[in-house]
Amino acid sequence: MGYDILTRVIEFTESDLAIDSRMGKVAGLLVKEFPFDSCAIYAWDDKEKLFKLNVAAGSRKGRVESYGQNQGLPGLARKTKKHLEAYKPGPEGILWQETEDRGLKGFKGACVYPLKDRQRWYGLLYLKSAKKVELSPGEKKLLEVISRLLVSNFKCKHHSQSLKKAGTKIKDIHSRLTQAEKLIVLGELSATFAHEIRNPLVSLGGFAARLKKKIEPDSPFNVYVDYMVNEVRRLEQIINNILRYTEQKEAVFEGTDLNNILSESLAFFSEVFKKHDIEIVEGFARKPLRVMADRHQLKIAFDNLIANAIQSMEKGGKLTVSTSREKSWAVVDLTDNGGGIEPRYINNIFEPFFTTKKYGTGLGLDITKRIITKHKGRIDVDNKMGQGVTFSVKLRRA
Ligand SMILES: Nc1ncnc2c1ncn2[C@@H]1O[C@H](COP(=O)(O)OP(=O)(O)OP(=O)(O)O)[C@@H](O)[C@H]1O
Ligand SMILES: [Mg+2]
Repeated sequence: MGYDILTRVIEFTESDLAIDSRMGKVAGLLVKEFPFDSCAIYAWDDKEKLFKLNVAAGSRKGRVESYGQNQGLPGLARKTKKHLEAYKPGPEGILWQETEDRGLKGFKGACVYPLKDRQRWYGLLYLKSAKKVELSPGEKKLLEVISRLLVSNFKCKHHSQSLKKAGTKIKDIHSRLTQAEKLIVLGELSATFAHEIRNPLVSLGGFAARLKKKIEPDSPFNVYVDYMVNEVRRLEQIINNILRYTEQKEAVFEGTDLNNILSESLAFFSEVFKKHDIEIVEGFARKPLRVMADRHQLKIAFDNLIANAIQSMEKGGKLTVSTSREKSWAVVDLTDNGGGIEPRYINNIFEPFFTTKKYGTGLGLDITKRIITKHKGRIDVDNKMGQGVTFSVKLRRA
């Protein structure tokens, strides 16, 4: 039978069939051509440390779905790293009993061939017979060669799975790159628009302010002019945000007091706090908190966080601002009670252009994060849905 079987096994293993079907065909052939009643090919699962049934042919009697690395004949083969033959009764009967293999009930002979190379285990070939079997040296050699061919098949399967995984990863990277490209183009476009819009907007703002001066304080037109002045200011803010986002200025670091920067930011918003009925609770560290920072940029970062807090509490609320020392960090916590962020958005809030606001640009937090990162600091969010948000900024103490 020798070469004939080998030729057929090679035909199967080289066919266009799916890899598991090829192995199923080989199992069927082994049951037909060798004095065995059952053939099972197990695959080694390195994560779970189990031999798992991959394909089988012949008698279903005593078919075991999986063997642990110390269980039964498969476990013994894994330990000894050799092929095993077991018979009952006979001198090897001892081996038979020691293994306590639950799949051997009703059988009198069994062989196990490890499917492995020098680097790793792929599985094993498990053949069982109801009668005692004595294989000739030629048959044993043949089974060894077939085992090698099965190892090649397992390798193929392994590589094709790796390729599939790599393919999915490439697809993922590709879609992220496309997204990033879109953002770059969007960023460039926004910058161009912002530049184009800024000058006429400044003129409009100037004219509106002049008009306001000309109109009598009790004139009904005041409402319209106020509206114009306020809306132009809001548009200017959006434009400035976009320009800040795209200009990417180099930071100029100097030793500075964090308490001082925060106080200035809070002072800047004092009128707005009053207007929206927002109470400010300050809990500043008593001594100055020295950090190496670009004052101008840090102020922009805090302004954005404060602006968000205000926007979440437009009908009144409480903003708690505290600073503290934590080992080598200077920490700023800003807590509002504006209701918090919907959990489904929490992973998006730092993305450029992500906004849930009608007139937001979605750049505030992105700019803030960039500034903090430039300072080698970190920013964390503690969101309590229904209550409010705490943004914590940590900077290295100087
Ligand atoms: N304190 C907060 N409370 C509730 N939601 C917040 C808070 N801060 C940020 N968010 C959410 O995160 C989103 C992104 O904030 P970000 O500051 O980046 O953009 P924006 O405020 O919408 O627009 P922009 O700041 O550019 O005017 C907001 O639209 C809002 O949904
Ligand atoms: Mg904002």
